[in-house]
Order: sequence, then C-alpha cells, then structure tokens
Amino acid sequence: MAGRMVVTGAAGFIGSHLCEALVTRGHHVTGIDCFTDYYDVAQKRANLSALAGEPRFRLIEDSLTRVDLRRVLDDAGVVFHLAAQPGVRKSWGTEFEEYIEHNIRATQMLCEAMKGSGARLVYSSSSSVYGQTAQLPMREDHPTRPQSPYGVTKLAGEALCLLYGANHGLPVVCLRYFTVYGPRQRPDMAFHRFIRAVLSGEPLEVYGSGTQTRDFTFVADAVDANLAASIYAGAATVFNIGGGSRVSLNSVLDLIGRVTGRTPDVRYREPQKGDVMHTLADISLAAREIGYAPRVGIEEGITREVEWLDAKRRGVGI
Ligand SMILES: NC(=O)c1ccc[n+]([C@@H]2O[C@H](COP(=O)([O-])OP(=O)(O)OC[C@H]3O[C@@H](n4cnc5c(N)ncnc54)[C@H](O)[C@@H]3O)[C@@H](O)[C@H]2O)c1
Repeated sequence: MAGRMVVTGAAGFIGSHLCEALVTRGHHVTGIDCFTDYYDVAQKRANLSALAGEPRFRLIEDSLTRVDLRRVLDDAGVVFHLAAQPGVRKSWGTEFEEYIEHNIRATQMLCEAMKGSGARLVYSSSSSVYGQTAQLPMREDHPTRPQSPYGVTKLAGEALCLLYGANHGLPVVCLRYFTVYGPRQRPDMAFHRFIRAVLSGEPLEVYGSGTQTRDFTFVADAVDANLAASIYAGAATVFNIGGGSRVSLNSVLDLIGRVTGRTPDVRYREPQKGDVMHTLADISLAAREIGYAPRVGIEEGITREVEWLDAKRRGVGI
C-alpha cells in the first residue's frame, strides 16, 4: 500500500481499530470524522485515545459533505470509507434524512472527488443489503432486497462506488460486513446492550424470541478484510465479510452468562421492523480473492468485549 491512508468514520467502532492497525504497520493516516450524535460522542473520543500524540495520525473533525475533499485526497493511496449513519431501527421516519446525508450524499461526493485521483477505495457495506432472504448462506450474487431504510442507503452507497468503478476506473472494493462486534462496539448494538446489562445486574431486552441467528464478525477480522481489500488488483467488486459461524441470540446470552459468571435476566419483546431473522455469509469469494479468513471465534470474541466493557464500567480503561 503506497501513499497516505485516509479513513472516514475514523472515530467510530470499526474505523478507530482500522486507524490503529494502519499506524502500527507504519502508515501515515488521515482520519475524518464529524462526531455525529448517533451515540455518545465521549465514546468516539475515547476510541481515538490510543492514537493521541501519534505523529503518523492526523484527525480532521469535519463532515465529508463539508470538507475540501480534493485537499484531503492529495497523496492518498487508499481511502477506507467507513463513515455512515448506522443502525437499522432508527432509519425509519424523519431520521431517514440523516441516512441520505451521511450514507448516500457523502459517498457520492467522495466518489466524485476520487475520480482520477489514483487512490483506491474500500467501502464498508453491510449484510443488510440482502434483506429477508430465504437462501443461506448469502452469496454476493444473490438478490439484494434490503429490509430497512438503512439497508437501502448502504446498497445505494455500494451501487455508487461500483458505478464510479465502472465509469471512471475508480479501483473499488465493497465489503459487506455481517454484524461486527468486539471492544468499542456501538452502544446500540445487541452484544453491547446485553453485556452492559448483565455486568450491572439489570434486565435486558431481546426483540423476538432470541432464536434469530446471525453471522457475527470480530472487529479485528473486519480490519484484516480492509487491509487485504486495499491491495486487491481485480475489477470493482463486492465481498462478504463474515465471522465464519452462525449463532442464535439465545446462545450468545448463554455464552455471556458463562463468561461473566452471571445469569442474564432476559425480557423478550416484539420483533423490531427492519430486523432480519437469519444471516450467514458465504465467504468463499473473499477467501479466494483476498485471502480473507476470520481468526477470532465467538467465545474468544465475546470474552474480549466483556473485558472491555467491564474495564470501561469500572473506569479503568477503554
Ligand atoms: N458495526 C457493524 O456491525 C456494521 C455492520 C455492517 C456494516 N457496517 C458499516 O461499517 C461502518 C462503520 O460502522 P461502525 O459500527 O463503526 O459505526 P460508527 O457509528 O461507530 O462509526 C461511523 C463513524 O462515522 C462518522 N460519520 C458519520 N457520517 C459522517 C460524515 N458525513 N463525515 C464524517 N464522519 C461521519 C460518525 O461520527 C462515526 O464516528 C459503517 O459504514 C457501517 O454502515 C457496520
């Protein structure tokens, strides 16, 4: 990977891990983040604390839709585009404006600025582009029928990236992550909510019966996928990035109980609109083309997230 690395959404859950991995490998990294209030901005600041004072890391606190992108892209070798308004459940109703702004408009502006820049683009997409598909495992060439407005905007972002790839020769890879978890996970995500409740002895809510299954991906594996995708020399394309196993929410709760030594106090609630019942990634294409192979299993991954949240709760670190 030559040139400077640019990471959009640098202060976020996955983006902050990616910035650290790049700096550790000796790269100069420019992070961009506008610190949206989708969740506590203090967590985003804490996400970047390991990079404070790091001479190879520079942070631009601004939105992709406002910043002078041509200047940011000067000398850039790779742009890892993770900035987005995340979350399926909030994407209904008037909140949709935020999703258009951060997921579609920002992506189009980035692609436009990247045309002819020589930099490569790695776009963070999502398994939510597939929707309620009956066919498992999900393969990249399966139909995309998003089940939520969020999924619609992630698919639009992906389509824009591929369009700029096809029409302007922009070297682009889209990574469809399947539920990423681990230290710094967003507070609205299920594992974070579950572990936080169990550690503080509070009841927790599960939407649906808990029999829904997910392919969970540990954050370090998602980071590895980005690094591998950034040197992919093939044509503009899409890869599934999953964790390699499918687990029900109830099994996750059992595991959290075992790891914490406490029994989760579970309250089952109505399923939420936009949630799909099952996800499972076919990762054979990513394995073949970019050598992707998830390394962290669910038990180890949950243990690492529990350790992080426990330390955070006790104020002894992040
Ligand atoms: N976490 C998951 O399980 C998951 C699954 C599938 C896809 N993804 C995708 O991965 C990416 C990262 O997700 P995450 O969980 O780390 O989310 P996150 O919310 O923690 O990080 C996203 C960051 O982007 C920033 N941002 C948003 N709009 C911006 C803009 N216009 N300009 C600059 N910064 C902006 C936010 O402030 C935030 O810090 C997103 O694109 C998301 O859609 C995540």
